[in-house]
Order: sequence, then C-alpha cells, then structure tokens
Amino acid sequence: MGSAELDEFIERVNERTDIYSVVSRYVTLTQKSGRYWGRCPFHNEKTASFSVSPDKGLFYCFGCHAGGNAFKFLSLIENITYFEAVKLQAQRLGMDLPTRKYSPEEERRRHEEKSLFKINEFAQDFYHECLIKTARGEVGRKYLAARGITAQTVETFKLGYAPDDWDNLLSNLTRRGFSPEHIEKVGLIVRRKNSSGFFDRFRGRVMIPINDIFGHTVGFGGRILKAEDESNPKYLNTPETVLFNKRKLLFGLDKSNRAISTAGAAIVVEGYMDAISLFSAGIKNVVATLGTAFTPEHVKLILRYARKIIFCYDSDEAGQKATLRALPIVQAAGAEVFIVKVPDGKDPDEFIRKHGKENFDKLIENAETLIDYRMKYVIARADLNSIGGKKAALQEILPVVVKIQDKVIRNEYEKKIAAALLLDEQLVGEEWRKFSLNNPSADTEKKLPAVKQKIPVNDAELLIKEAFETILRMIWHDGDTLDYISVMLPREIFSQVHQEILSRLEICREEGRRLDQMSATKELSEEANAELSRILMKGANNPRDTEIGFFNDAVGILRRAVLEKKYKTLLAQADEYKVSDKETYRKKVQESLKIKREIDKLKVD
Ligand code: GTP
Ligand code: MN
Repeated sequence: MGSAELDEFIERVNERTDIYSVVSRYVTLTQKSGRYWGRCPFHNEKTASFSVSPDKGLFYCFGCHAGGNAFKFLSLIENITYFEAVKLQAQRLGMDLPTRKYSPEEERRRHEEKSLFKINEFAQDFYHECLIKTARGEVGRKYLAARGITAQTVETFKLGYAPDDWDNLLSNLTRRGFSPEHIEKVGLIVRRKNSSGFFDRFRGRVMIPINDIFGHTVGFGGRILKAEDESNPKYLNTPETVLFNKRKLLFGLDKSNRAISTAGAAIVVEGYMDAISLFSAGIKNVVATLGTAFTPEHVKLILRYARKIIFCYDSDEAGQKATLRALPIVQAAGAEVFIVKVPDGKDPDEFIRKHGKENFDKLIENAETLIDYRMKYVIARADLNSIGGKKAALQEILPVVVKIQDKVIRNEYEKKIAAALLLDEQLVGEEWRKFSLNNPSADTEKKLPAVKQKIPVNDAELLIKEAFETILRMIWHDGDTLDYISVMLPREIFSQVHQEILSRLEICREEGRRLDQMSATKELSEEANAELSRILMKGANNPRDTEIGFFNDAVGILRRAVLEKKYKTLLAQADEYKVSDKETYRKKVQESLKIKREIDKLKVD
C-alpha cells in the first residue's frame, strides 16, 4: 500500500467512525450539555472527568490530559500502534483492508510467515484438544488437577498435552498440507540424525503455549509429568526460531498487559507455572521470563504499560542471584524496582496455593526497595566476626546506597547499616563520604527523559496560555481569523506546541481545506494533537457571542505581552548607549515611549 492509498484508507475509516460507539465499548458514558462524560480509563478516578464530543470526533480527559480522536483512543486502550488501531476499527466496521503489491520475494516471505503462525495455531489446538478430549490426555489432566489447575485456567491459557508418540503432530500437520520444512522452522519437529524424515519435538508433556503480545502462539514450553524423570529436562522449550525469541518475549503479557497498566506495576516471576497460578488466583498483572535472564528488551516491553517492576523470583540461591542480575538492567532503563522474597523457600505458585491471594497481596504491598534488598542480601552473607568481613560488606553496600540524595533518608540508612554490621555509625558515615568523593558519578543516578510534569506557570504565562486557547477556538470556528492573528501577533510569543498547531492550520488553509477537516492525529505530533483536543473540548460549552468578546480580550492580552517585551528590550538597549552614543540613546528612548503609549492605550480599552 502506498502512502497516498494509506491516507485515503485512514480517511475512509475515519469518516465511518463514530467516536461515541468506539468509546462506549470500554467506558460507560452519560450525556450532559452536548457532551458525554465517564470515568477515565487511563487513570484512576472517582469523578467523571473524561469527556467525548461526538460532533468533533474527539475525546479528552481533564484529569490526565489524554486526548485525541477515536484511533488515538483505541491505540491507548488496546495498547497498540495508531495504524493497528485504524485496522482494528476497520475490522469492526467490516471494512476490507487495502491490499498492496508485493515483490515475489516479499510475497514468498509473507506466505511463509502466515504458514508458520498457522502451524503454531494448529499445534496449540491439537495439544489442547488432546488434553481435554482424548483418553491419552488423561495423564495430563490428572497432572494438572493434582497441581490445582482448574478447567477454567486450562481454557484461559489453552494448556495442552503432547501425546507420547513420535510423529502424531507431524502427521496431523502434513495431512493439513503444511510442509515439514515449515514445521521444522517453528521448532515443533526435529530432523532425524541417521535416516531421513522428522519426529515430534514434544512428546508426553503438558504443553504451555507462549504467545506474542497480540496473542499469536509463537512457541511452547513442555513440562515433563514425572518429577523423578532425571533423564529428561523438566521443561523443554521451543528453540530460537524466526517467531520465537526468548529475549523479547514475556510469558503471559498478552493477557496481563491491561492489568499491568491499571495496577501501574508488573510482577515478574521465573516460571510459567508461577505466572499461571498467580493469574488464575486473581493476580493478573503478572509475567514470566522463559527460563532465561531478564533482558533490556523485557524492560522495554513492560515500560510500555507501567513504570514499576516487582521481581518475585524463587527464594532459593539461584532465584536470588537471578534477581540481583536483573536489577541493574531494570534500573538503567529507569523503571522503579521492587523485590518480593517469598517466605519458606517457596516459589510464588506454591505460596499462593498454600496461603491464598490475600497473603500474596500482602507480600506485594511489603515489597522491598532495591536498596533494602541489596543491603539485606549483602549483610546476610557477610562475615560479621571479623573486621575485614564487615569492611568488605560495607564496601559492597556503599555503591548501592550512595545514590540516596535525601539527607534524612541517608541518615536512616547510615544507622541501619551500622546496626546491621555492628559498626560505629560515624565510621559508616565517613566511609560513605569517602566513597562518594571517589566515585562522583555513582551518586547521580541516571534518569530517564523526565516523565512529563505540569510546570507551575506564573500569572502572565497563564494569561497568555488562556488567551491562546480562546484565539485557537475562534480560528477553528472561523478560519479568517487566522490571517488577522498572523498580522497582529508574532509567532514567538506562543509555546512550541502552539506554534506547531498554528503552522499546521495555516498549511491547511493554504491548501483550501476547511480546518475541521484536518486530520489532526495524522498531521500533528502526539503532543500537539492532545493539546488541540484539550483546547477545543474546553471551549465546547461556551456560547459563541461571548467568545467574540473573549477573543478581543485575548488578542489584547497577547498584544500587550508582545509590546511589554519590546518595551523592556528597548530600555535595555537604550541603557547600553547611554554613555557611548547619545544619539542612538535618544532614539531608543523615544521608540520605547511610543510603545509605552500603545501599552497604556490597550489598558484603557
Ligand atoms: P514447576 O516445577 O512446574 O513448578 O516449574 P516452575 O514453573 O516452578 O519452574 P522452575 O522454577 O523449576 O523453573 C523456572 C523456569 O525455568 C521454567 O518455567 C522454565 O522456563 C525454565 N526451566 C526450568 N527447568 C528447565 C529445564 O530443564 N530446561 C529448560 N530449558 N528450562 C527450564
Ligand atoms: Mn514451581
């Protein structure tokens, strides 16, 4: 699809889209003064500050400032890209996606990829049916039942059973017309060493499908039934394939991403069974790594939904080591890290089955910060009988705690460390200072690009901002005012975002389009788009006649701001020439006085 066709397609979908029906799938809306109101799905709130304006095709939340058109809404609520949202909406409207021409090579690759996904989908169904319907699946059913896994959970995760045969899956797949080469490519079969042909990789195992974020099955984990079977690995996983990359996949994320957004945190566990068990017990914001270390790609995936990551690894030594290794990765990415240590050497699955959801919730509530966790870890392993051991432990703790900036908290930690290592508090303080002097970079923690914060604005700035909003609504209503504004006011007095909006509107006008036909989401940056929606929504209830009054006031305010700035600049310039160049000095003063008069005139008006 070329970009023009794409634009045209988006436009067609847009035309047929009613934002009210889109949003009301997710949010209960009630009508009030020409708009619809509901509780914002993007932040926690008790009162309804989320509004939808069907005639403008926009939504806006006065609480969290999320805003935009129907596609923007879909992309936020479904956690998909803008274009995926367009496609989703097109599907819901029963519209066909435009097709494009592919090169033969592209065509082959697309065909192959489709076939690979299909194979995994088929295999997932095959294993699942085998588990729930066949006599051979009974061992699997018994195994899962013994682990307390309900039929509901089997359904949710589409768990399955691979029969203990050499080629049951293979022959079923080839009968369906899939080629052995493709089946091998997704890792479901293995080439025989000494003769021709293939055999099923997974045999006699409970099968756990592993999905990508869209819910497509891309691989499997297969668990052996008997714990005492030493000759076989407990878990057999799909090897790396074009679809299956453990570094980039998190088990369960396709089901838990909404809960992660809502909770503002993701719980990361080590095992499939831990994730399945927590999820079915009602802890839905959970993901598991696939038997590999936690990677920067994993952090990025989670950061799409939440900033907080709570590690809940096994409490054995290996689990704790894995936790420690994961921490710097997560920290470097700017996530907030917490650690939960499951008591009695249990894993999360065992714990929640024995102690229930409430007690697991308590563990999460009492999750430790990174610093506390590191400290305890070091102290628990320190040799406190020798001064050498204590000093070594202190040297291990310092790199972690020097990041603390707050004096009071720092003092607390000095006390804690001193008490734990049976050292003098003053000594700890001295070592701390020494360490931060020698490692100047250690105590300035790397920060992510700041999360957008509301900057307090002074009165003048606020006035200018509000004046701009009034003017913009007027321009939206009557494009001619744009020319008037261009003459009256220099662009620089507006903020960067506002300048972007104005420039876009001008282009739109030059092209002879009506402004309200502008596809804001396509033509504006995300920030400018949200701002435009916010401003338009804010004025939606204002009667027009007063707006004209407001408009004149607003222009006045802005004119004055411009003139005052000019006035100050001229006075400063005059000051510079006061001694050196009497003539220029006089000129500058005269100019400034002229401006002063203009300002005074505006005040009287
Ligand atoms: P259960 O014994 O079924 O409760 O397993 P678990 O979910 O508690 O997993 P465990 O803590 O034993 O291991 C954590 C994760 O490591 C598993 O979910 C697998 O992803 C992976 N894993 C465990 N054992 C093996 C193995 O033998 N081979 C491979 N490749 N991965 C394994
Ligand atoms: Mn376990």
